[in-house]
Amino acid sequence: MSLRFLTAGESHGPALTSIIEGMPANVPLLASQIDQHLARRQMGYGRGGRMKIETDRATISSGIRHGLTMGSPITLTVENRDFASWGDVMKPEPVERYAYDSVKTRPIQIPRPGHVDFAGLAKYGPRDFDGQPDMRNILERASARETTMRVAAGSVARRLLEECGIWIGSHVVSIGTIEVAYGDIPDARSLNERADASPVRVLDTGAEAQMIEAIDLAQKERDTLGGVFEVVCDGLPVGLGSHVHWDRKLDGLLAGALMSIHAMKGVEIGLGFEAARRRGSAVHDPFERGHNGKILDRPRNNAGGLEGGVTNGEPLVCRVAMKPISTLMNALPSVNMISGESTAAHVERSDYCAVPAAGVVGEAMVALVLVNALLDKFGGDSLDEVRERVNLHRQKTRDLAREWNAHTAQAHTQPS
Ligand SMILES: Cc1cc2nc3c(=O)[nH]c(=O)nc-3n(C[C@H](O)[C@H](O)[C@H](O)COP(=O)(O)O)c2cc1C
Repeated sequence: MSLRFLTAGESHGPALTSIIEGMPANVPLLASQIDQHLARRQMGYGRGGRMKIETDRATISSGIRHGLTMGSPITLTVENRDFASWGDVMKPEPVERYAYDSVKTRPIQIPRPGHVDFAGLAKYGPRDFDGQPDMRNILERASARETTMRVAAGSVARRLLEECGIWIGSHVVSIGTIEVAYGDIPDARSLNERADASPVRVLDTGAEAQMIEAIDLAQKERDTLGGVFEVVCDGLPVGLGSHVHWDRKLDGLLAGALMSIHAMKGVEIGLGFEAARRRGSAVHDPFERGHNGKILDRPRNNAGGLEGGVTNGEPLVCRVAMKPISTLMNALPSVNMISGESTAAHVERSDYCAVPAAGVVGEAMVALVLVNALLDKFGGDSLDEVRERVNLHRQKTRDLAREWNAHTAQAHTQPS
């Protein structure tokens, strides 16, 4: 593993932290470049009140000097402004018993369907001051507030990718039953600018209005919505990942990383599940003699840039399905873990739809996996070293294409 990262922090604790280890030295990186993506994660139609409280800003406390990475571990911290309003509830220090007289101070004893509340209670056994079950500890770490630090770490990773001419963007392709029609794969470099201009991060204005209407309706009916977002990456060199072993296949690594995001329930690469419905002739991407410095051209990219777990030089396309938000204002039936009585599930302040924000988290996870794959293939301790090796590889591929094209052109002109 060339690049590793960890996140730490609770939803309403003092702060969130990430440590990123393995970034080469001399990559230009400013806190504002991280903040830009943190702000994108906080956007999106259908978010709850929390996003209005927090304006996430990253503090860099190691690994970057004078705007350049140092090659040492990078530590990023984002303060939870909301911590200040939680009194003793989230204090790291021991506290005297407090009154259970508000939504914040009351122990959580009724699990929410769709959350880890019950399984976490069974596994870790957290208790309140009276020794009764209290799921607060579980909920605090399981919260998608954690994705703040994935986005922060991903912003570091994407700086290296950008310096190597690799671009990542995302957009929403469905919310509930409202879908954007399949079209051409968007250009990754300009994708975020276009998607971020829409409150639901969608490229189709017709679908945008219907999606907003669907979110409004769900909110009015105290319900929630999920959807699908697509992450696109351009500029990847051929040959990242490997076909030789299960844990080196890039499709598996990407799917695992994307599925690890809160509420993600499916990942498709390229045509994905649709490929299973079609015949092979309508799925696999034919080869044609290459142009513009390529050995071969592909008239379509149903494979989504990966064959055999290896990048094939086409844009990478991943689609990710997010389930509807689990916390329902019109709470589903649950059971009080102390009295055993049937009752409505616990309710916390919550989003109604977070698919637009989830796409930004998806970009971050893809960036982190790709940097790891890039460094696994090319190595390098500094930006110059990595870039030189990537460029040499690209040059070799172009030379090979030129040779190949000259050779095949000659073969074509020779009389048989
Ligand atoms: C960006 C983002 C925001 C989310 N916001 C909420 C939320 O406000 N309320 C909620 O109940 N779940 C929210 N979730 C989803 C839950 O965190 C997730 O469903 C829960 O932790 C259970 O994990 P699982 O769905 O992966 O099994 C959000 C997820 C993401 C990616």
